Order: sequence, then structure tokens, then C-alpha cells
Amino acid sequence: MNTHRLAVIPGDGVGPEVTASALTVLDAVEERYGFTTERTEVLLGADRYLDTGELLTEQDVTTLSGHDAILFGAIGSPRVTPGVLERGIILALRGAMRQSVNLRPVRLYPGVPTPIAGLTPERCDLVVVRENTEGAYVGTGSTVHRGTPAAVAVQESINTWYAVERAVDFAFRLAEERRRKVTLCHKTNVLVEAGALWLEAMEVVGRRHPDVETDYVHVDAMCMHLPVSPERFDVVVTDNLFGDIVTDLGAVVQGGLGVAASGNLNLEGSAPSMFEPIHGSAPDIAGRGWANPAGAVLSMALCLSTLGEGAAAAAVERATASVLADLPGLAGEAMGASTDEVAQRIVGCLDTMDETVLSAPSLMEQLAVVRAGMRDRA
Ligand code: NAI
Ligand code: MG
Repeated sequence: MNTHRLAVIPGDGVGPEVTASALTVLDAVEERYGFTTERTEVLLGADRYLDTGELLTEQDVTTLSGHDAILFGAIGSPRVTPGVLERGIILALRGAMRQSVNLRPVRLYPGVPTPIAGLTPERCDLVVVRENTEGAYVGTGSTVHRGTPAAVAVQESINTWYAVERAVDFAFRLAEERRRKVTLCHKTNVLVEAGALWLEAMEVVGRRHPDVETDYVHVDAMCMHLPVSPERFDVVVTDNLFGDIVTDLGAVVQGGLGVAASGNLNLEGSAPSMFEPIHGSAPDIAGRGWANPAGAVLSMALCLSTLGEGAAAAAVERATASVLADLPGLAGEAMGASTDEVAQRIVGCLDTMDETVLSAPSLMEQLAVVRAGMRDRA
């Protein structure tokens, strides 16, 4: 029997609540799909920081590195200056674990309310592959004459062939398992230097995948096309800043923060990948049992798929979709069920669910196949 070593970082606010739900569902699929997990809880976040001043220590990095994957809840607290925990823990983790790609499925599940009038699930099933290490977020730049009328702030965007080609390569590998289309989202008409490098990567990698169609969309036009005609997209590859923006738009299209999932992938297998719902710690609803656990549960499913448990992951996705379809609302009291009740319903659906609830093939199975390719490349 396969055993996967999982590090679990519940974090702050609703993080521990939705993570508990993800683990409830995980317990249930382990029994059914014949694998086990060994779990290590790692306490990072506001409480520890306020007690000890520690964010992410070298010891934490060593501990986490000894696992196959990381499940992450959410971090952030009104008791801590904004940015301290987010940069000191989340961004530090993505860097330390060399999680070079952020994967964000944008799938509208049946029955989930979307603000886009007339949008149907058949038309909305895409994946955004966001370069996760550089671009405008690399942290280079400086300010001179700060605080004076002569102040000059320089914030550079760094684009290396190494990172760009790696992200584009992953996008093509994923597209091979899907509808065989990769769209580059950038702003090549203005950011001509970075744009040329991304276009070249599309061309070079595209030659290795002649059966994959390529497309290009400027990021501003993307903000129009993604909500209005998401069916145009299969795999969208983009840089760190544009990816941050368009994935929030994608989350809105697919029903909001309660359902959106993500993975930060280490493509070389040199350290664990990390899976997290895209919402934050939601201090406004923490402690009430009102958080929607679907984003955390679907992130756990993404995790399973990269561990090679594609069938289990797809079952979790189908069960979650079944439950979402029956909820009267997606968040708060409108959900009509507590966080834990939603998790229990997902578990209940694992045995009884309608296999046809999702018409299109599951990203979860596709990712399990691509993952094999990821390791081969290393
Ligand atoms: P947020 O995502 O925590 O909350 C935004 C709104 O969505 C709130 O009204 C919240 O109640 C609601 N919401 C969030 N998750 C939900 C869920 N699962 N079910 C139902 N409703 C949900 O974003 P916000 O308020 O801007 O940030 C709160 C804290 O979280 C801050 O400290 C922020 O820095 C941090 N944060 C952390 C992230 C992470 O850990 N990856 C990501 C985003 C924010
Ligand atoms: Mg963001």
C-alpha cells in the first residue's frame, strides 16, 4: 500500500476549520482507494509569531522538506501588521520549496452560482499556469530620495529563460492531456522585452508539441474574454503578476473564494508541492463554522493527483461538485450547513454519487499523468 507523507499547516482564522474538513474527506478516500498518509502538523501563523517572533524557521523548512506534499489552510491576522505573515510565511515557503508554478483550475461546477449571466459549466473548464517565482514579484528594485518630491521608485520585473521555459513546458504537458490548447496571456505590445522572451518560449516549447494549438491574449483583453467566453481557453500560461490578477477574476467566474483551489508545484521533485484554497484567513467569519470547505477539499484533491492518486482525486472532485450543486448558497449562513456538515456530505457522496455529475474529464486525472512526466524530466 502506498503511504504519502503529508505536512499540514492549518494556519490562522478559518484555515484550521477548512483544513479539518479536507482531512475528514482525506480519511474517507484513503479507506476507499487503498493508500495511507502519514501526517505532520506544522504550526505556522499568527499565534506562533506573536508568542515567539518566529515566521518560517530553518528547522520548519527542514521538517517540511521531509514530506511528499504540504496542505496549507490560510494565514493572516488582524493582530499582525499586514504583509508580515503573508511574506514571511507563504511567499517564503513558495521560495524555499522551489514551487515554480502556481496552478489554478477555473472550473464552473454544475449548480454553482456564477455572476456571469448565461454561463454554463460546459463552457468553463480551464487551468491557469502562473509562473510563481519571478516577474514583478521577484523583489528587486530600489527607491532614492524617498519621502521627498524627488523620490524615484524602481521596481524591476525579472524574467529568466529558465523559469519562463519551465512554466511554458509544464503548460504544454498539461494541455497534451486536455484539449490541446495553450494560450499565452501577457502584454507583449508594451512589455516588449519580457514579452519577447515569453513568445520565444511558446515557440520553442510549441515545436516539441506540434499537436497542441497555441493562442495569445493580452492581459487586458483577457479580463474581457475570461468572463465572457471562457470556452476559448484550455491551459493559460502567464507571468506572476498577470497570473495573480487573472486568477482572482477566474475565481469570481467559478463561484468565488469558497470553491477556488490552487497548487504551488515544485516541478523538479526537489521539494514538496503545496496545496491551498485561494481564500485567506477570513477573520470576519472565523470561529463560526460558516466557512465553505470546498476550496480546501479541492486543493487536497489536487494534492492527491500530484501524488499519483488520480482516481481518488477525481472522486473527491465529483463528490464535492455533487454537494456544491445542492447547497443553497456558497458562504456563511446562506450555505445552509456548517463547514463540518459540508465535509460530511462530501464523504457521504463518495459512495453514492452520480458518476455523470461532471461531464468533462477531470483535471485531477490529467495532473496525475503529467506528474509522471514532471519526474521524468528531473
Ligand atoms: P479572505 O479571503 O480571508 O476573505 C475575503 C472575504 O471572503 C471575507 O468576507 C470572507 O469571510 C470570505 N471568505 C473567505 N474564505 C471563505 C470561505 N472558505 N467560505 C466563505 N467565505 C469565505 O481575504 P481578506 O479578508 O482580504 O484577508 C484576510 C486575511 O487573510 C488577511 O490577513 C490576508 O492577508 C490573508 N490572506 C491570506 C491568504 C493565504 O493564506 N494564502 C490569501 C489571501 C489573504
Ligand atoms: Mg492574489
